[in-house]
Amino acid sequence: MKYRVTLIPGDGIGPEVTGATCQILAAAGAPIEWEEAPAGGVAMEQYGVPMPEVTLAAIRRNRLGLKGPLMTPKGGGFRSANVALRQELDLFVGLRPARTLPNVPGAFPGVDLVLFRENTEDLYAGIEHAVTPDTVVSLKTSTVRAAERISRWAFEYMRYRGRRSVHCCHKAAVNPLGDGAFLDTFRKVAAEYPFIQNGDIGVDSLSLTLPLDPSRYDVLILQNLYGDIISDLCAGLVGGLGVVPGANIGGHAAVFEAVHGTAPDIAGKGLANPLAVLLSANMMLEYVGEWKVAERIERAIWDVLEARTHVTRDLGGTGGTETFTQAIIDRL
Ligand code: NAI
Repeated sequence: MKYRVTLIPGDGIGPEVTGATCQILAAAGAPIEWEEAPAGGVAMEQYGVPMPEVTLAAIRRNRLGLKGPLMTPKGGGFRSANVALRQELDLFVGLRPARTLPNVPGAFPGVDLVLFRENTEDLYAGIEHAVTPDTVVSLKTSTVRAAERISRWAFEYMRYRGRRSVHCCHKAAVNPLGDGAFLDTFRKVAAEYPFIQNGDIGVDSLSLTLPLDPSRYDVLILQNLYGDIISDLCAGLVGGLGVVPGANIGGHAAVFEAVHGTAPDIAGKGLANPLAVLLSANMMLEYVGEWKVAERIERAIWDVLEARTHVTRDLGGTGGTETFTQAIIDRL
């Protein structure tokens, strides 16, 4: 059996890094059949919108997607293609692991964190209005339903993956209703999983203590905006956006993607590091239960990083996309 996956090559370095990933997955014998779909610049040219219905329909049909980075056209009143994707497909789980890999410049040793970001609410609902000419109200939405489903997903993930403790991060002292409800709901769900340690922490205290000692934390669960910010902080702890994968998961579909952007400064030059998209694709393999293939790819990645010879410049090497990709394929 083969999994049919919607592939969105994306903009800038997107086609280079997704292309490299497809080559490596094929070499590893991953049972995947790709169906390419447009989004971003290509979709703007063809359909006049960055996230066309044809692409959403393909993901709904296949239930799995791998996505390269997308540029969002400036002006013109378009929603960000990434936000549109999450909202249209109700991909409520933002899953962002951050782990120290070998020889990554600037990484703290031994970091192994998993962050869950609620993807659908908060300030991202985009509800703002001017009350007077100099006063704007921006609404932060927060429902018990959203808090419950992300909490439950996180606890189930922890149970399945053997993670030991989780912290709910909030600012309930300032937003006792919205953040307070998120925290209360988290605690209610936590009570159903007595074998997993749980706690909570203010998002400000977290920002202080996380860089001082990342090993104090294991799994973090946050509302949308805090999750957006803290997940980048976590990426910083392990060497930056070039090495962290991501997934957006809903009840009916899951889309895996790197967190970095289109890197227009190096696009088309063969310099892009494919690791973040490759690790995202590996998360997809684990998600569907293809553990053995995922493990093989992971071991090959670690070997190549440890040898360091063929890695790209952002990882301190002299290689390009092609040499890095070939080195991983050779290790496989
Ligand atoms: P960026 O992540 O594209 O680039 C920041 C820096 O990191 C650049 O110096 C770039 O060369 C480097 N970089 C990023 N990915 C790399 C890789 N795989 N290998 C080697 N170097 C890499 O962020 P920036 O410049 O803020 O955004 C550029 C465009 O990307 C914008 O249009 C933005 O809207 C879009 N973007 C898209 C995202 C997505 O689709 N998920 C996420 C973030 C930005």
